[in-house]
Amino acid sequence: MGENDSIGAIARAVRDACRLVVLTGAGVSAESGTPTFRDAMTGLWASFNPEQLATPEAFDRDPELVTRWYDHRRLGCMACEPNPGHRALAELERRVVGSGRSFLLLTQNVDRLHQRAGSNAVVELHGTIMVWRCTKTGREVMPPPTPMSEYPTRTEAGGLLRPCVVWFGEMLPESALEAALSSLGECDVFLSVGTSALVQPAAGFVFEARRAGAVTCEINPQDTAITGWIDHAARGPSGRILPAIVEAAFGDGAAA
Ligand code: OAD
Repeated sequence: MGENDSIGAIARAVRDACRLVVLTGAGVSAESGTPTFRDAMTGLWASFNPEQLATPEAFDRDPELVTRWYDHRRLGCMACEPNPGHRALAELERRVVGSGRSFLLLTQNVDRLHQRAGSNAVVELHGTIMVWRCTKTGREVMPPPTPMSEYPTRTEAGGLLRPCVVWFGEMLPESALEAALSSLGECDVFLSVGTSALVQPAAGFVFEARRAGAVTCEINPQDTAITGWIDHAARGPSGRILPAIVEAAFGDGAAA
């Protein structure tokens, strides 16, 4: 199936969806300049070993290093702008919800670019780097768009500030997982965008969708761990493919 055929098939699916669930990963933010995790040479992991930074043990061992790294990433995300792929997903939500159908965006990303692009129905499976909390009281704060004044940052309660992201070895926010599984159990179209689908539980979402009888779609320049269970795969960057799908589904030249 050629790229245009895949775009047409996905466009028809999202146009006719009654309960659309979208899953995104780092690839949807790649064209905004935020690094993915596993892409060779460009991914975050080309420059550091995740176990050194993205675990509670790493934070306990070296809170200064971990705080510096996450504050650097937080400011990096703030300096990025949503790309046409983010905006197309926000338009897709408006179109689906505006016609009385249900839409939910499940993201593994912590950069909040979906919300900055106008998406509202967003579940942050891995939390967000934009909100930090006190390790002693759990009180949450949203640090200003400037570097933190000290690393690590102490709180009035005598704790430390840590980012509200899910670290390796930590559980996902229960409410996020419940919302995701509930929506997947009822969806009729599932669209996976920009994720390698290697990390659970997101890697298993396509099976939940298939169990519900959904049409499954994928947008990624490459095959992924779930491509074998995908009905329609569009191979290319989401910043180009997603706007083409929304245009084909709802634009003047809407898919017949
Ligand atoms: P990965 O880096 O594992 O995968 C990024 C995916 O995006 C790959 O499949 C790329 O082919 C694809 N990609 C690259 N550029 C793209 C583009 N322009 N358009 C569309 N796709 C593109 O990132 P994730 O799958 O998000 O978890 O990783 C999932 C989780 O693994 C992350 O949330 C993180 C990590 O462990 C935690 O930190 C808890």
